[in-house]
Amino acid sequence: KTLFLNGRYLPEGEASVSVLDRGFLFGDGVYEVIPVFGGHPFRLDQHMDRLVRSLAEVRIPDPYDREEWIAVFQRLLEENPGGDRSLYIQVTRGVMARRDHAFSEGLSPTVLVMVSPIIPPDPAVLEQGISAVVLEDHRWSRCDIKAITLLPNVLARQQAVEWGATEAILVRNGQAIEGAASNLFLVVDGVVVTPPKDRQLLAGITRDLVLELAGEAGIPVMEAPIPADRLREASEIWLTSSTREILPVTRLDGSAVGDGRPGPLWARMHALYQDYKARLR
Ligand code: PDD
Repeated sequence: KTLFLNGRYLPEGEASVSVLDRGFLFGDGVYEVIPVFGGHPFRLDQHMDRLVRSLAEVRIPDPYDREEWIAVFQRLLEENPGGDRSLYIQVTRGVMARRDHAFSEGLSPTVLVMVSPIIPPDPAVLEQGISAVVLEDHRWSRCDIKAITLLPNVLARQQAVEWGATEAILVRNGQAIEGAASNLFLVVDGVVVTPPKDRQLLAGITRDLVLELAGEAGIPVMEAPIPADRLREASEIWLTSSTREILPVTRLDGSAVGDGRPGPLWARMHALYQDYKARLR
């Protein structure tokens, strides 16, 4: 496996980063995950726009222009052939001379890009759905930034796994916000609802595509806050992300969602999403 680190293409086992890297000591960095379907980075512009925005919000200079980024991705995809994959991009503020919270002079960002396989969902998952648990959202107040600082997300996902579930749905001030690493959709009275974009959640690229495809297909959609109680009234719950697409949640905190099977609107959305992917190949 070849990865890209600070301008060099290296075997994974030979790549290393200083212990004084601000990403390692402070979680001071941002990242992006871009799925690659049929050899092509999917919704590349949208992912790159989000990376540029994350960098600007945390005041890390963007080390490359878009063409340079894309050249790195192309070379890595050539050197790491495979089926569906994802590009993981991480930029930290760089390596310090000594541990100091404030930015020091002359930092240059540490840039990592690596390719990982996307594990397709078990067919049973698409037939039976997944289970999720509801947990308090313990993250900071800038979840719109795709920061590498993921401790609350990690602890929530681990709690979910220990309770036999696949994902945690996070609740803040009585509102359901998103999953630990996914966006949230509900179907209530035949309308697809997802929370509006704000600083409490990551503006998912998959989320936007689901809204776009649903709109084109004439499926009623609404961006509105979701009080946590609504989760129990929903006929369908979905979680979306670049690597897991649209997952139907059929059990929430151990109780059935709707009739306990993936719902009809999920099936339609899943088909629309697969068609869209196939068209881009
Ligand atoms: N996570 N919300 C959070 C908190 C996320 O971490 C993610 C994605 C999403 C979905 O965004 P998108 O549709 O753009 O992938 C929402 C990535 C995949 C990860 O951390 O691996």
